[in-house]
Amino acid sequence: MSNSDFNPRDSFGSKFGIIAAAAGSAVGLGNIWKFPYVAGQNGGGAFLVVYLLFILAIGLPVMLSEFSIGRRAQRNAIGSFKKLGPGTPWYLVGVMGVAAAFLILSFYSAVAGWTLEYITKSVTNAFAERDENELNQMFVSFISGTWRPLFWQLMFMALTAWIVAAGIKKGIEKYTKVLMPLLVIMIVVLCVRSVTLPGAIEGLSFLFKPDFSALSADAVLSALGQAFFSLSLGMGTLITYGSYIRKNDNLSGTVIQVSAADTIIAIMAGVAIFPAVFAFGIDPAEGPGLVFITLPNIFQQMPGGYFFALVFFILLSVAALTSSISVLEVVVAYMVEELNLARKRATVLATVMISVLGVFCTLSFGVMSDVSLFGMVFFDLMDFTASNLLLPLGGCLIVLFVGWYLGPGPSRREISNEGEIKLGYFPVFMFLVKFVAPFAITLVFIYGLGLMRL
Ligand code: TRP
Repeated sequence: MSNSDFNPRDSFGSKFGIIAAAAGSAVGLGNIWKFPYVAGQNGGGAFLVVYLLFILAIGLPVMLSEFSIGRRAQRNAIGSFKKLGPGTPWYLVGVMGVAAAFLILSFYSAVAGWTLEYITKSVTNAFAERDENELNQMFVSFISGTWRPLFWQLMFMALTAWIVAAGIKKGIEKYTKVLMPLLVIMIVVLCVRSVTLPGAIEGLSFLFKPDFSALSADAVLSALGQAFFSLSLGMGTLITYGSYIRKNDNLSGTVIQVSAADTIIAIMAGVAIFPAVFAFGIDPAEGPGLVFITLPNIFQQMPGGYFFALVFFILLSVAALTSSISVLEVVVAYMVEELNLARKRATVLATVMISVLGVFCTLSFGVMSDVSLFGMVFFDLMDFTASNLLLPLGGCLIVLFVGWYLGPGPSRREISNEGEIKLGYFPVFMFLVKFVAPFAITLVFIYGLGLMRL
């Protein structure tokens, strides 16, 4: 590897850089596009409560485990397990993570492509004077096409590849520091507009008033999948990023800040969307189109809507980009460190392979919409397999690795920076990773997949 290549063992430059990069990975389409529609499809308030419980009891310990594995091993997702558990099959957890990265990026890039199309629609003022039906029609006819969505998807993959190939450190740290706060401001503005719409209260009570009778086994599994997806857990993204965190930075502090930012932004996206959904008489279980139909509807009815729509879709694309980079980085770091490929070559190879899968995801809204497996079109199959199966399973194995294989010694040393930081909560962490998280994940699996009825 030449010196001009990004050295994967470089570290993040600053404390804020770590948070920006990790939060950049966590905050993405999962928060703004996926969370509202998954919550909408699974009953709203009750889903939110279960989701928050999963973040606390499972998300935080899994995230801390991933960071500590990566920083201890100073390697990529697969290499970390090889180094910390030499001669054992634990590296297969990393292999599963790399596989999950392929699936996730294949459908993620499809939706990210939509956000690029919607930037151009904003520029040409395409939402003006359109009612709900027309906006719906506009969305459906776009995603069910062939060349336009494919074009934007491949553009987005190229953009992701370009940044990853050039090296993330400066670009990403620099962008995320500026763009993430901007995204927050935009969402706050949208929240204010949405909650002041007539009939907003209905939307807020849908989101915040739990009706547990509406909670199905399926919904609980989706809440778990969503918690993993939104926090970027279970596939080694944060093992890889953890390996770039400097030895004197505080891992648990980072975990708290990243999770809090991620959760707050997801809830704000819900607050921006549900009041509008009810005010305009849209079905909250609408699905993946929610952000692309409801928000343009709000924009075109507010003063300065042209400007807000444009800024919103640009920032949504950027949020998607800072996440997709972290997914591609898992594959590239693996190829560079374990297969000894040059960084650029690895990036191109990974991008081409993922794009092939991605084409099928995009076409599953159009010409391939009647091709389905297990009752799901290709897009949903990739999403379901990765988010609801591979990520929770990966997360479960990661905490088992830390709790039972590594044990408290190495974990305590890593998390406390070799004794520098006092860890009063350490026994709680150990209890969560040894018992609570694995047990809860297993139970949700068995129950959610319909293998057992409670
Ligand atoms: N968390 C990101 C989002 O919410 C997506 C993402 C990035 C991700 N890296 C990941 C999901 C790793 C799962 C695993 O949009």
